[in-house]
Amino acid sequence: AMRAELANLASQVQDEEARKYFSNEMDNFFVLFTRYLNEKAKGTKISWDKIQSPSNEQIVPYKNLDQISAPSDLNKLAVLKLNGGLGTTMGCVGPKSAIEVRDGMTFLDLSVRQIEYLNKKHDVSVPFILMNSFNTDEETKRIVQKYATHNIEILTFNQSRHPRINKESLLPVARSPASPIDQWYPPGHGDLYESLYNSGLLDQLIAQGKEYLFVSNVDNLGATVDLSILHHMVQTEAEFIMEVTDKTKADIKGGTLIDYDGRIRLLEIAQVPSEHVEDFKSIKKFQIFNTNNLWINLKAVKRVLEEESMDLEIIVNNKTTDNGEKVIQLETAVGAAIKHFKNAHGINVPRSRFLPVKSTSDLFLVTSDLYSLNHGELVMSPKRMFNTVPLVKLGDHFKKVNGFMARFKGIPHILELDHLTVTGDVTFGSNIELRGTVIIVANHGDRIDIPSGSVLENKVVSGNLRI
Ligand code: UTP
Repeated sequence: AMRAELANLASQVQDEEARKYFSNEMDNFFVLFTRYLNEKAKGTKISWDKIQSPSNEQIVPYKNLDQISAPSDLNKLAVLKLNGGLGTTMGCVGPKSAIEVRDGMTFLDLSVRQIEYLNKKHDVSVPFILMNSFNTDEETKRIVQKYATHNIEILTFNQSRHPRINKESLLPVARSPASPIDQWYPPGHGDLYESLYNSGLLDQLIAQGKEYLFVSNVDNLGATVDLSILHHMVQTEAEFIMEVTDKTKADIKGGTLIDYDGRIRLLEIAQVPSEHVEDFKSIKKFQIFNTNNLWINLKAVKRVLEEESMDLEIIVNNKTTDNGEKVIQLETAVGAAIKHFKNAHGINVPRSRFLPVKSTSDLFLVTSDLYSLNHGELVMSPKRMFNTVPLVKLGDHFKKVNGFMARFKGIPHILELDHLTVTGDVTFGSNIELRGTVIIVANHGDRIDIPSGSVLENKVVSGNLRI
């Protein structure tokens, strides 16, 4: 029935070229869907007893790398940002990468700055690639237009568009190829390989002499091009390197690398049987997690796609559409491909290479004086006594970027802050300094305005304080 529905959708596309493209997408979707049905029938979950901690050779500490940088390696490198996702958690309607982070610059602007600087410094021309989705393509292209005259090659391509599936009927929700966008979804960043191949860009890069692709999440401001990792990749002839970092209690959900039947594999929380979820989250058993900074050999990608096919574990994402229909999305993760590659391994990198912005609390940190900007790269202030970042929890009033912006006249100085919790209707003036542990609680109906110039040190503020 699914197959007939997909054929019906394809038949409605008038233009022949467009129809071919659409059919190809639906074929890829159908492969994923069939695998999903098979797995559902067989109930194949990972077998927990076979999971072992990765060996020492499988996770190399960053400090053990030869600190050699050979800038000539850069001639073979391309940099790609995963840019298919929306910033919905932060109440942003467009691409997350369009959020302004610092000095009026968006995630995209900062990434472009980083690559421009790299190119200038080493006199190379590393291309900057964006994998967009139908959700982000238009706006992203508008933003990067301003770099047309700059000395940087920006390439974009689109990932696939798959139909959301009705949870009960297991049929596509979309009735026509032009149906509303909430009936479609981008199938996760694991789609990178197929999309890069289908767009023709994979062959184009290889033809240009590019051998390595550095991939990262667009919101990870710590994912800069690291020459010693690149050189390590060249030396070890590893086809795939995943940057991992030590897990803290705040990172319990991130995927981890495991040894499974002697092979390295990514284990995501979605694959873990429910009775082992607590084990998965524990820091004791799984000490590292995936930063999604990945170094991938392009020719190896082509080989795997053409000779084996990428068999990435399916992550089922349950959603509800705008009109209340229960749907599922079948997605895959880019790091799951690690098992297909030769000499693939992890490198345990410093935490500073993982600086994601998932919430406005993260945004608060990266906009603050804890960091400064250095050619698009965020560097932690040397004035911070400890190398750790403060624990910040901003409440629901701050959840959306607009609300967040409106509630701060200026981002407080937080060089000496350890912990901040803010709940309720709270606003901040300018030039405020927060130190130690600060807790501000405005109960329902109350409002607290922290006056400009305040210094709060180890303080609990509650009640009603309007100015
Ligand atoms: P994710 O949404 O997978 O992970 O996006 P996340 O940012 O950790 O998400 P939350 O906070 O758990 O919801 C990671 C990166 O992958 C891109 C996003 O744009 C982001 O840069 N992405 C995600 C795609 O490019 N395509 C997708 O289909 C999904």
